[in-house]
Amino acid sequence: MRIISTVAAMQAQARRWQRAGVKIGFVPTMGYLHAGHLSLVRAARQRVGNNGVVVLSIYVNPTQFAPTEDLANYPRDLKRDLQLCRAEKVDVVFTPSDGEMYRWGAATDEPLKRTARGDARPTGFSTYVVEENLGRMMEGTSRPTHFRGVTTVVAKLFNIVLPDVSVFGQKDFQQAAIIRRMTEDLNFPVEIIVAPTHREPDGLAMSSRNKYLDAEQRAQAVILFHALQAAKQAVAKKSEAAARLKKDLAEFITAAPLARLDYVEFFDPETLLPVTQVKRGTQMALAVYFGKTRLIDNAKL
Ligand code: PAJ
Repeated sequence: MRIISTVAAMQAQARRWQRAGVKIGFVPTMGYLHAGHLSLVRAARQRVGNNGVVVLSIYVNPTQFAPTEDLANYPRDLKRDLQLCRAEKVDVVFTPSDGEMYRWGAATDEPLKRTARGDARPTGFSTYVVEENLGRMMEGTSRPTHFRGVTTVVAKLFNIVLPDVSVFGQKDFQQAAIIRRMTEDLNFPVEIIVAPTHREPDGLAMSSRNKYLDAEQRAQAVILFHALQAAKQAVAKKSEAAARLKKDLAEFITAAPLARLDYVEFFDPETLLPVTQVKRGTQMALAVYFGKTRLIDNAKL
């Protein structure tokens, strides 16, 4: 397994593979890897075949964090991540620095500026990719500059890794939809695969942020999964008014005393537009705080 940390070396390697006709599968991550990430590696491997290669990037992308969020504390364990990647037979791990990705730190001692809106503005960098439709609701309402950071870094990573196929998790449903749209809109020659959500035995969706939960919060965090199950049951035989179901689920969730609901939404899985009537096949997404930790989950009902 090769570890590459500069943009130039990664691009040069990707070009060599391209010229040799080697298919490149790509899994972008922010590290602190868990079985969910590794399932994406396997999906990439399967798609590119034995003659292809799999690149996994580990980069905690500052531009997708708001100032109130957990950028400084985001969990990191590169040594363990690299062991997991080796065991999973990843071909290249791409681990760029902030300087490599956003050229900050080079020209100034004050590398990361915050705008009046509070978003991160690297000073040596001023071009962003913004998806203007699917990113407005749900996560976009709660985290207004988040998706701009995600689309920008993923576009950059696509230009650096030159993948034929890139795998994203269903766990971040809205993110995957936005990446698909960006890829289509900007004609990136990349096939996007969305892989199912990997869960703990009790149903909690795996997430690097689960590490923040104390024992009591962890025990109650399964309420997100149970809320999805309850909604599935509620609409298994008949449709329900979205407003009514939201109210019931809000009560259901706050029955876990440490849970603070951010949102529950019911929407069309293609357009992400909210529906007023919830039925089988409607997509549901929710975000719940446990202390400062914000967990998300979603499912097709
Ligand atoms: P991160 O949260 O590290 O997730 C990396 C990828 O793993 C994403 O595609 C995410 O949807 C997927 N993933 C996370 N938990 C999963 C689970 N339980 N089951 C299956 N897949 C799961 O998402 C990001 O990083 C960043 O926004 C990124 C796309 C890397 C851009 O910075």
